Amino acid sequence: MTIPASLEGRRVLVVGASSGIGRALALGAGAAGARVALAARRLALVEEAAEEIRVAGGEARAWGCDVTSEVDCARLVADAAAWMGGIDVLLYMSGSSPLVRVADAPASLWHEMLATNLVGAALVVRGALDYLRGAADPVVVVTTHSMGAPWPWLGVYGTTKAALAELARALRSEEPHLRVLSVAVGNTASSFADNWDPDVAGRALEQWVADGLLRYEVLQCNEMADAILAAVLDPSGPDELLIAGAEV
Ligand SMILES: NC(=O)c1ccc[n+]([C@@H]2O[C@H](COP(=O)([O-])OP(=O)(O)OC[C@H]3O[C@@H](n4cnc5c(N)ncnc54)[C@H](OP(=O)(O)O)[C@@H]3O)[C@@H](O)[C@H]2O)c1
Repeated sequence: MTIPASLEGRRVLVVGASSGIGRALALGAGAAGARVALAARRLALVEEAAEEIRVAGGEARAWGCDVTSEVDCARLVADAAAWMGGIDVLLYMSGSSPLVRVADAPASLWHEMLATNLVGAALVVRGALDYLRGAADPVVVVTTHSMGAPWPWLGVYGTTKAALAELARALRSEEPHLRVLSVAVGNTASSFADNWDPDVAGRALEQWVADGLLRYEVLQCNEMADAILAAVLDPSGPDELLIAGAEV
Protein backbone atom coordinates (compact mmCIF):
# COMPACT_ATOMS: atom_id res chain seq x y z
CA MET A 1 0.00 0.00 0.00
CA THR A 2 1.34 3.44 -0.90
CA ILE A 3 -1.06 5.47 1.26
CA PRO A 4 0.71 7.20 4.16
CA ALA A 5 -0.57 6.62 7.71
CA SER A 6 -2.69 9.74 7.42
CA LEU A 7 -6.09 8.29 8.26
CA GLU A 8 -4.91 7.91 11.85
CA GLY A 9 -7.86 8.29 14.19
CA ARG A 10 -10.42 8.49 11.37
CA ARG A 11 -13.48 6.25 11.55
CA VAL A 12 -14.24 4.79 8.14
CA LEU A 13 -17.33 2.85 7.03
CA VAL A 14 -16.90 0.85 3.82
CA VAL A 15 -20.12 -0.53 2.34
CA GLY A 16 -19.41 -3.19 -0.30
CA ALA A 17 -16.19 -4.37 1.36
CA SER A 18 -16.40 -8.11 0.61
CA SER A 19 -14.51 -7.98 -2.70
CA GLY A 20 -12.88 -5.85 -5.34
CA ILE A 21 -12.29 -2.14 -4.90
CA GLY A 22 -14.27 -1.89 -1.64
CA ARG A 23 -12.20 -4.65 -0.04
CA ALA A 24 -8.97 -2.98 -1.20
CA LEU A 25 -10.21 0.35 0.17
CA ALA A 26 -10.95 -1.19 3.56
CA LEU A 27 -7.49 -2.77 3.73
CA GLY A 28 -5.90 0.50 2.58
CA ALA A 29 -7.81 2.54 5.17
CA GLY A 30 -6.83 0.05 7.89
CA ALA A 31 -3.18 0.21 6.84
CA ALA A 32 -3.38 4.01 6.92
CA GLY A 33 -4.41 4.00 10.58
CA ALA A 34 -8.20 4.24 10.36
CA ARG A 35 -10.67 2.26 12.45
CA VAL A 36 -12.68 0.44 9.78
CA ALA A 37 -16.25 -0.87 9.73
CA LEU A 38 -16.78 -3.22 6.78
CA ALA A 39 -20.08 -4.41 5.35
CA ALA A 40 -21.63 -6.41 2.49
CA ARG A 41 -23.95 -9.39 2.08
CA ARG A 42 -21.25 -12.11 2.06
CA LEU A 43 -20.39 -11.88 5.73
CA ALA A 44 -17.69 -14.58 5.64
CA LEU A 45 -15.71 -12.55 3.07
CA VAL A 46 -16.19 -9.33 5.03
CA GLU A 47 -15.04 -11.09 8.22
CA GLU A 48 -11.97 -12.33 6.35
CA ALA A 49 -11.05 -8.79 5.22
CA ALA A 50 -11.58 -7.43 8.74
CA GLU A 51 -9.35 -10.16 10.14
CA GLU A 52 -6.66 -9.26 7.59
CA ILE A 53 -6.70 -5.67 8.87
CA ARG A 54 -6.51 -6.81 12.51
CA VAL A 55 -3.63 -9.21 11.79
CA ALA A 56 -1.75 -6.27 10.24
CA GLY A 57 -2.23 -4.35 13.52
CA GLY A 58 -5.32 -2.32 12.61
CA GLU A 59 -8.83 -2.08 14.06
CA ALA A 60 -11.72 -3.51 12.06
CA ARG A 61 -15.11 -5.12 12.45
CA ALA A 62 -17.47 -6.77 9.97
CA TRP A 63 -21.23 -6.57 9.43
CA GLY A 64 -23.59 -8.35 7.08
CA CYS A 65 -25.72 -5.87 5.15
CA ASP A 66 -27.92 -6.06 2.07
CA VAL A 67 -28.18 -2.46 0.86
CA THR A 68 -31.51 -3.22 -0.84
CA SER A 69 -32.98 -3.51 2.68
CA GLU A 70 -33.84 -0.24 4.42
CA VAL A 71 -33.69 -2.02 7.78
CA ASP A 72 -30.19 -3.39 7.07
CA CYS A 73 -28.91 0.05 6.00
CA ALA A 74 -30.24 1.76 9.15
CA ARG A 75 -28.95 -0.99 11.43
CA LEU A 76 -25.49 -1.00 9.81
CA VAL A 77 -24.99 2.74 10.21
CA ALA A 78 -26.19 2.71 13.84
CA ASP A 79 -24.05 -0.30 14.79
CA ALA A 80 -20.93 0.89 12.99
CA ALA A 81 -21.23 4.39 14.48
CA ALA A 82 -21.74 2.93 17.95
CA TRP A 83 -18.67 0.71 17.61
CA MET A 84 -16.41 3.43 16.16
CA GLY A 85 -17.80 6.31 18.26
CA GLY A 86 -18.94 8.09 15.07
CA ILE A 87 -18.29 8.06 11.33
CA ASP A 88 -15.81 10.37 9.59
CA VAL A 89 -15.57 8.83 6.12
CA LEU A 90 -18.28 6.86 4.32
CA LEU A 91 -17.23 4.87 1.27
CA TYR A 92 -20.24 3.47 -0.64
CA MET A 93 -18.80 0.85 -2.99
CA SER A 94 -21.74 -1.53 -3.35
CA GLY A 95 -22.68 -2.00 -6.94
CA SER A 96 -23.86 -4.54 -9.43
CA SER A 97 -23.56 -4.48 -13.24
CA PRO A 98 -25.69 -6.99 -15.15
CA LEU A 99 -24.85 -7.51 -18.80
CA VAL A 100 -28.20 -6.99 -20.50
CA ARG A 101 -29.62 -4.87 -23.27
CA VAL A 102 -32.30 -2.37 -22.31
CA ALA A 103 -34.70 -4.19 -24.66
CA ASP A 104 -34.34 -7.37 -22.58
CA ALA A 105 -34.29 -5.94 -19.04
CA PRO A 106 -37.36 -6.84 -16.96
CA ALA A 107 -38.79 -4.43 -14.39
CA SER A 108 -37.52 -6.63 -11.55
CA LEU A 109 -33.93 -6.14 -12.74
CA TRP A 110 -34.35 -2.37 -12.99
CA HIS A 111 -35.73 -2.31 -9.44
CA GLU A 112 -32.90 -4.45 -8.10
CA MET A 113 -30.20 -2.37 -9.79
CA LEU A 114 -31.73 0.92 -8.68
CA ALA A 115 -31.99 -0.44 -5.13
CA THR A 116 -28.35 -1.56 -5.08
CA ASN A 117 -26.59 1.17 -7.04
CA LEU A 118 -28.70 4.20 -6.07
CA VAL A 119 -31.24 3.83 -3.27
CA GLY A 120 -28.84 1.95 -0.97
CA ALA A 121 -26.41 4.88 -1.19
CA ALA A 122 -29.18 7.35 -0.33
CA LEU A 123 -30.28 5.25 2.66
CA VAL A 124 -26.80 4.75 4.08
CA VAL A 125 -25.91 8.44 3.67
CA ARG A 126 -29.25 9.48 5.20
CA GLY A 127 -28.53 7.32 8.24
CA ALA A 128 -25.01 8.70 8.59
CA LEU A 129 -25.84 12.41 8.04
CA ASP A 130 -25.86 13.33 11.71
CA TYR A 131 -22.30 12.01 12.02
CA LEU A 132 -20.97 13.36 8.75
CA ARG A 133 -22.45 16.87 8.54
CA GLY A 134 -19.75 19.44 9.11
CA ALA A 135 -16.90 16.97 8.87
CA ALA A 136 -14.00 17.73 6.55
CA ASP A 137 -13.92 14.09 5.52
CA PRO A 138 -16.19 12.91 2.75
CA VAL A 139 -18.89 10.60 1.59
CA VAL A 140 -17.57 8.81 -1.50
CA VAL A 141 -19.76 7.21 -4.15
CA VAL A 142 -18.45 5.49 -7.25
CA THR A 143 -19.92 5.96 -10.70
CA THR A 144 -18.46 4.89 -14.02
CA HIS A 145 -16.18 6.35 -16.67
CA SER A 146 -18.78 5.40 -19.30
CA MET A 147 -21.33 8.01 -18.17
CA GLY A 148 -22.26 10.21 -21.09
CA ALA A 149 -21.08 7.58 -23.61
CA PRO A 150 -22.96 4.44 -22.53
CA TRP A 151 -21.63 1.00 -23.38
CA PRO A 152 -24.15 -1.34 -25.05
CA TRP A 153 -25.25 -4.17 -22.70
CA LEU A 154 -24.40 -1.94 -19.70
CA GLY A 155 -27.20 0.59 -20.21
CA VAL A 156 -29.17 -0.44 -17.11
CA TYR A 157 -26.04 -0.21 -14.98
CA GLY A 158 -24.90 3.08 -16.53
CA THR A 159 -28.31 4.65 -16.05
CA THR A 160 -28.30 3.85 -12.32
CA LYS A 161 -24.77 5.23 -11.98
CA ALA A 162 -25.75 8.47 -13.74
CA ALA A 163 -28.58 8.77 -11.22
CA LEU A 164 -26.05 8.18 -8.43
CA ALA A 165 -23.92 11.08 -9.75
CA GLU A 166 -27.04 13.27 -9.63
CA LEU A 167 -27.76 12.08 -6.08
CA ALA A 168 -24.26 13.27 -5.10
CA ARG A 169 -25.05 16.71 -6.63
CA ALA A 170 -28.38 16.82 -4.81
CA LEU A 171 -26.67 16.05 -1.51
CA ARG A 172 -24.17 18.86 -2.10
CA SER A 173 -27.02 21.29 -2.73
CA GLU A 174 -29.04 20.23 0.31
CA GLU A 175 -26.16 19.62 2.72
CA PRO A 176 -23.62 22.36 1.98
CA HIS A 177 -21.34 21.27 4.82
CA LEU A 178 -21.16 17.72 3.56
CA ARG A 179 -18.23 16.83 1.29
CA VAL A 180 -19.53 14.43 -1.34
CA LEU A 181 -16.97 12.92 -3.69
CA SER A 182 -18.23 11.27 -6.84
CA VAL A 183 -15.54 9.14 -8.45
CA ALA A 184 -16.01 7.90 -12.02
CA VAL A 185 -14.10 4.65 -11.93
CA GLY A 186 -12.26 3.32 -14.98
CA ASN A 187 -11.93 -0.37 -15.80
CA THR A 188 -10.57 -2.21 -12.79
CA ALA A 189 -9.81 -5.93 -12.44
CA SER A 190 -12.40 -7.11 -9.91
CA SER A 191 -15.17 -9.69 -9.69
CA PHE A 192 -17.82 -7.38 -11.19
CA ALA A 193 -18.01 -9.48 -14.38
CA ASP A 194 -18.01 -12.89 -12.66
CA ASN A 195 -21.71 -13.52 -13.27
CA TRP A 196 -21.73 -12.49 -16.91
CA ASP A 197 -22.75 -15.16 -19.43
CA PRO A 198 -19.56 -15.89 -21.44
CA ASP A 199 -21.40 -15.90 -24.79
CA VAL A 200 -23.09 -12.57 -24.15
CA ALA A 201 -19.84 -11.15 -22.76
CA GLY A 202 -18.03 -12.25 -25.94
CA ARG A 203 -20.55 -10.47 -28.18
CA ALA A 204 -20.52 -7.38 -25.97
CA LEU A 205 -16.71 -7.26 -26.00
CA GLU A 206 -16.64 -7.46 -29.79
CA GLN A 207 -18.94 -4.48 -30.00
CA TRP A 208 -17.04 -2.48 -27.37
CA VAL A 209 -13.81 -3.02 -29.33
CA ALA A 210 -15.52 -2.13 -32.64
CA ASP A 211 -16.97 1.04 -31.07
CA GLY A 212 -13.57 2.04 -29.64
CA LEU A 213 -14.90 2.05 -26.07
CA LEU A 214 -11.94 0.31 -24.38
CA ARG A 215 -10.11 3.58 -23.81
CA TYR A 216 -8.17 2.95 -20.61
CA GLU A 217 -5.68 0.42 -19.31
CA VAL A 218 -7.20 -1.82 -16.66
CA LEU A 219 -6.14 -0.94 -13.10
CA GLN A 220 -5.75 -3.36 -10.19
CA CYS A 221 -8.08 -2.92 -7.22
CA ASN A 222 -5.30 -1.76 -4.90
CA GLU A 223 -4.22 0.88 -7.46
CA MET A 224 -7.80 2.15 -7.69
CA ALA A 225 -8.17 2.10 -3.89
CA ASP A 226 -4.92 4.04 -3.40
CA ALA A 227 -6.11 6.72 -5.85
CA ILE A 228 -9.53 6.99 -4.16
CA LEU A 229 -7.93 7.29 -0.70
CA ALA A 230 -5.59 9.98 -2.05
CA ALA A 231 -8.69 11.91 -3.19
CA VAL A 232 -10.27 11.44 0.25
CA LEU A 233 -7.14 12.93 1.80
CA ASP A 234 -7.20 15.99 -0.50
CA PRO A 235 -10.05 18.27 0.63
CA SER A 236 -9.05 20.88 -1.96
CA GLY A 237 -9.52 18.43 -4.86
CA PRO A 238 -12.56 18.34 -7.18
CA ASP A 239 -15.88 16.85 -6.03
CA GLU A 240 -16.29 14.94 -9.28
CA LEU A 241 -13.32 13.13 -10.71
CA LEU A 242 -12.33 10.37 -13.10
CA ILE A 243 -9.83 7.79 -11.90
CA ALA A 244 -8.71 5.48 -14.69
CA GLY A 245 -5.63 3.85 -16.16
CA ALA A 246 -3.59 5.45 -18.91
CA GLU A 247 -5.39 6.00 -22.22
CA VAL A 248 -4.58 3.26 -24.74
N1 LIG B 1 -14.44 -2.77 -11.74
C1 LIG B 1 -14.72 -1.81 -12.62
O1 LIG B 1 -14.20 -1.76 -13.74
C2 LIG B 1 -15.69 -0.72 -12.23
C3 LIG B 1 -15.91 0.34 -13.13
C4 LIG B 1 -16.78 1.36 -12.78
C5 LIG B 1 -17.40 1.34 -11.54
N2 LIG B 1 -17.19 0.29 -10.67
C6 LIG B 1 -17.89 0.29 -9.38
O2 LIG B 1 -17.01 0.01 -8.32
C7 LIG B 1 -17.76 -0.55 -7.23
C8 LIG B 1 -17.06 -1.79 -6.72
O3 LIG B 1 -17.15 -2.80 -7.71
P1 LIG B 1 -15.98 -3.83 -8.02
O4 LIG B 1 -15.53 -3.59 -9.41
O5 LIG B 1 -15.00 -3.83 -6.92
O6 LIG B 1 -16.82 -5.19 -8.11
P2 LIG B 1 -17.10 -6.34 -7.03
O7 LIG B 1 -15.84 -7.00 -6.63
O8 LIG B 1 -18.16 -7.17 -7.64
O9 LIG B 1 -17.66 -5.56 -5.76
C9 LIG B 1 -19.02 -5.22 -5.62
C10 LIG B 1 -19.32 -5.04 -4.15
O10 LIG B 1 -20.68 -4.62 -4.04
C11 LIG B 1 -21.29 -5.39 -3.02
N3 LIG B 1 -22.73 -5.50 -3.23
C12 LIG B 1 -23.40 -5.88 -4.35
N4 LIG B 1 -24.72 -5.95 -4.09
C13 LIG B 1 -24.88 -5.62 -2.77
C14 LIG B 1 -25.99 -5.56 -1.90
N5 LIG B 1 -27.24 -5.83 -2.33
N6 LIG B 1 -25.80 -5.22 -0.60
C15 LIG B 1 -24.54 -4.94 -0.15
N7 LIG B 1 -23.44 -4.95 -0.93
C16 LIG B 1 -23.62 -5.33 -2.23
C17 LIG B 1 -20.62 -6.76 -3.13
O11 LIG B 1 -20.74 -7.46 -1.89
P3 LIG B 1 -21.73 -8.71 -1.62
O12 LIG B 1 -21.97 -9.41 -2.93
O13 LIG B 1 -20.99 -9.53 -0.61
O14 LIG B 1 -22.97 -8.10 -1.03
C18 LIG B 1 -19.16 -6.34 -3.36
O15 LIG B 1 -18.54 -6.08 -2.12
C19 LIG B 1 -19.17 -0.83 -7.78
O16 LIG B 1 -20.04 0.18 -7.36
C20 LIG B 1 -18.95 -0.78 -9.28
O17 LIG B 1 -20.14 -0.41 -9.95
C21 LIG B 1 -16.34 -0.72 -11.00
